[in-house]
Amino acid sequence: MKIVVLAGGRSPERNVSLSSGAKITNALREKGHAAVLIDLFLGDTLSDVHTVAEVFQRPAPAADYAISEEIITNDAIDALRTDATKGLFGPNVLEICTAADIVFLGLHGEAGENGKVQATFDLFGICYTGSDFISSGVTMNKRLAKQLLLQNKITTARYATVKVGQATPKLDFNFPIVVKPAQGGSSIGMEIVYDQETLVAALTTAWQFDNEVVLEEYIAGREFSVGVLNGQALPAIEITVADGWYDYEHKYQDNGATYQTPPQIPAAVHQQMQAMALQTMAALGLTNYGRIDFLWDGTTIYVIEGNSLPGMTPHSLLPQEAAAVGISYADLCEQIIAGKLA
Ligand code: DAL
Ligand code: MG
Repeated sequence: MKIVVLAGGRSPERNVSLSSGAKITNALREKGHAAVLIDLFLGDTLSDVHTVAEVFQRPAPAADYAISEEIITNDAIDALRTDATKGLFGPNVLEICTAADIVFLGLHGEAGENGKVQATFDLFGICYTGSDFISSGVTMNKRLAKQLLLQNKITTARYATVKVGQATPKLDFNFPIVVKPAQGGSSIGMEIVYDQETLVAALTTAWQFDNEVVLEEYIAGREFSVGVLNGQALPAIEITVADGWYDYEHKYQDNGATYQTPPQIPAAVHQQMQAMALQTMAALGLTNYGRIDFLWDGTTIYVIEGNSLPGMTPHSLLPQEAAAVGISYADLCEQIIAGKLA
């Protein structure tokens, strides 16, 4: 198959996405596909090939793209782009994607995960992996996603939202409080705060990433995640960190966290988590694949959020869960595609 792996883009998770994209591209090539990695924002000038079709014969990207600790700002990404247009799609992206049998979305964060790319592809008749534009948009917005969870009686941590410049609303929970941009990922712009002073500072940070911020009750408990592949829940994975919490550094540094799948938890708890993952996928309208994150305090299981385009980096959770049931990384990529084309 001719497959475009679309990654990068103009998002704080650009580097994470390029890491996912490089790994997906190499895995699909291993399986014999003509897969090419295209950067959504930078596009491809086609300068060393003559036709769009020849793009699919380009050499494979480096297998493991190292994720630097630095989060690239939008200004720095704009400077990378040489053409005058500052739209989301770089040169020839739509043309190249149109020539593919399917586009594998390796995008994370902002446009790409929030449904805009998916909606554009629908308009152009381009087939892509993952969920549709509306479910992607709803899942990306933590306020809307939580409203849907609560409507569907799925337990989630209590929360409030505060828009840029607004006073903090009266909360029905106490410190510590988790502060997150309403639309974001990989814990970028997120902090856990213990008093009013640090809350104010954390809001200023989070507002740099979104003009709406979610304040969430801190749940002291063990952290888990459950991937869903074509309607089946994979085994949960438990994440532990030696110090602090599972932030950007812990997520993407070698040995940043310890993972165990399947986790050592009572079978009934594990089954309930998997059932809640499927309920959450349905509540958010997610299809094909996704990943639901959880906290368990020993009594209650809380859904923290859904991810419509979960990480596929060498450190990411979904591929580890798939491996635990004998699905290799390359098989996982092919099963995602097969699920979409079925
Ligand atoms: N947002 C990152 C990529 C994840 O959920 O894995
Ligand atoms: Mg997330």
